[in-house]
Amino acid sequence: MTESTPGGLENLLSEDRRFPPSPEFTAQANAHADVYSWADADRPAFWAEQARDLLDWDTPFEEVLDWSGAPVARWFADGQLNAAYNAVDRHVEAGNGDRVALHFEGEGGDTRTITYADLKREVSKAANALTGLGVETGDRVAIYLPLVPEAVFTMLACARIGAPHSVVFGGFSAEALYSRIVDAEAKLVVTADGGYRRGAPSALKPAVDEALTKGEHPVEHVLVVKRTGQDVEWTDERDVWWSDVVDSASDEHTPVPLDAEHPLFILYTSGTTGKPKGIFHTTGGYLTQAAYTHRNVFDLKPETDVYWCTADIGWITGHTYVVYGPLINGATQVIYEGTPDTPHRGRWWEIVEKYKVSILYTAPTAIRTCMKWGEEIPSKFDLSSLRVLGSVGEPINPEAWMWYRRVIGGDKAPIVDTWWQTETGAIMISPLPGVTETKPGSAQVPLPGIAATVVDDDAKPVPDGAGGYLVLTEPWPSMLRGIWGDPERYADTYWSRFKGLYFAGDGAKKDDDGDIWLLGRVDDVMNVSGHRLSTTEIESALVSHPWVAEAAVVGANDETTGQAVVAFVILRGDAAGGSESADEVQTTLRNHVAKEIGPIAKPRQILVVAELPKTRSGKIMRRLLRDVAENRQVGDATTLADSSVMDLIAQGLSQPGAKQED
Ligand code: PRX
Repeated sequence: MTESTPGGLENLLSEDRRFPPSPEFTAQANAHADVYSWADADRPAFWAEQARDLLDWDTPFEEVLDWSGAPVARWFADGQLNAAYNAVDRHVEAGNGDRVALHFEGEGGDTRTITYADLKREVSKAANALTGLGVETGDRVAIYLPLVPEAVFTMLACARIGAPHSVVFGGFSAEALYSRIVDAEAKLVVTADGGYRRGAPSALKPAVDEALTKGEHPVEHVLVVKRTGQDVEWTDERDVWWSDVVDSASDEHTPVPLDAEHPLFILYTSGTTGKPKGIFHTTGGYLTQAAYTHRNVFDLKPETDVYWCTADIGWITGHTYVVYGPLINGATQVIYEGTPDTPHRGRWWEIVEKYKVSILYTAPTAIRTCMKWGEEIPSKFDLSSLRVLGSVGEPINPEAWMWYRRVIGGDKAPIVDTWWQTETGAIMISPLPGVTETKPGSAQVPLPGIAATVVDDDAKPVPDGAGGYLVLTEPWPSMLRGIWGDPERYADTYWSRFKGLYFAGDGAKKDDDGDIWLLGRVDDVMNVSGHRLSTTEIESALVSHPWVAEAAVVGANDETTGQAVVAFVILRGDAAGGSESADEVQTTLRNHVAKEIGPIAKPRQILVVAELPKTRSGKIMRRLLRDVAENRQVGDATTLADSSVMDLIAQGLSQPGAKQED
């Protein structure tokens, strides 16, 4: 591999603990061991059966997979369906209108219970209101909302009329929001006055107002949900209160039948260059895999389970495993607006106890944070309802896995470590509960109907026990259909590294049993608390500040967040008048990154250096900087254009001016 994988993870392969499923679990499990062989024998036929079983079609499909336009796949292309009808109406028609769809828990303790019948009314009203605001099938809608029920209503209202949504995480800055609105050419923005964060109302609408002053844009209206009641600026001809147009709208609405390949949503994610990629997903294939994986990986029993995925709807996990997967399957779920430690560190466990959550899906960062807070906190609550635990977003280290199993899962709930990406749309590699003997730290096996392997630099599959790059070798239903407006970038990014194989950007190893272990990114993408950040994007943000001449960013190992952003900057000669302290430089530049991208991208440390290590062709050797950031002996530096640079950096860092921030 060109870059070493985040340090230490290779050692996981000595892991020899095994957890076979209990006979009781297996006896009631949705998934059976024989599913792999029949799915492998004819993958398209396997997925076609899932599509017919799990979804209702307005026009049944005959065509299953068309790969003639590779790398753009078409699944079930001559069929028609509607995502919102499948997620809502059909459950009401089947007599399950009284089943709870959403238990909403606000950060401040306010709650709302929304049944499937309620959901149908709310989504219909929102769909009518969107139409009233001029949104038509095919138009794009940007959603910049906290995790409140209206976020779910809006996504489904868009799906109902066939207007692809583009959800922008509420933690992104006005600048980031603006570039996403413009790239997707969104006609409408749906936002809120604010949301609750760590016990206080935090504003959202001002970021929309600011975004829309940054330049040309196609936005005609801003639809505003009242959540916190804080004062907002108002532009009369543009801004509309949700309560004025949605509450009074009719609650009857006919879902629009859409082609299976109609775009359902765009979701921006960081890539290796400065510009985020608008990953877009279509309807039939995406919903099929969302529903199949949600039902089988979490062993969902819609009549009895209470499911909770802690992700925000601003990320793909929130799209597939808060909105589409669970609702297509008719699940009852919890959505929680706030942070795990507000007003106290037991909040999540209190929620599990209160709603008798039986399936929990969260990220390793959250588990490690709870470990740090101490097991006496979860131990105060009754967590005995939990029967399946999921993990997603980053490699889970075996200690965190074991803690999750023992402290949260009472030593009995199977853990599913699920590997996937914004691009894959749904889970790709994961144990199946009731079938797979699990291993702490490994995502293990491609799901039935999915073909994944690990290859070397020459695209040859590696033998068991060896490492390389994770690739997907066959098209899958929920695969991205491209990068919005940039088909070439799609082909280049994912399909040019290994001919005919999808390159995921992750390093991986196969153990002696052939199970897959994910080892972290091998490109210029970092994973901080399960959030994807681009080194180049943060570097661009840093050099856009007048003090900075050059910047290099690396992801350094971090005990809690997996990786942390560490930036090395060269200041301009006249920077800051030369009088600012290292602290001021740090604070100013960290805030600047937050303003340009969002607080999640703030570097943990900013190190001021005199030089950056570069190869003769001018490429920054991030591997060496990572060694410095992780306090390791600097590795092989022989390809540096100037071999004294690393000494210079080391010397500079030992001086007081290079103080690190925690
Ligand atoms: O590096 C992998 C890591 O997260 C990346 C995808 O990030 P994103 O598109 O934001 O989606 C996150 C939620 C699906 C992957 O390329 N990743 C995701 N899940 C795992 C993981 N790494 C190791 N183990 C996982 N279970």
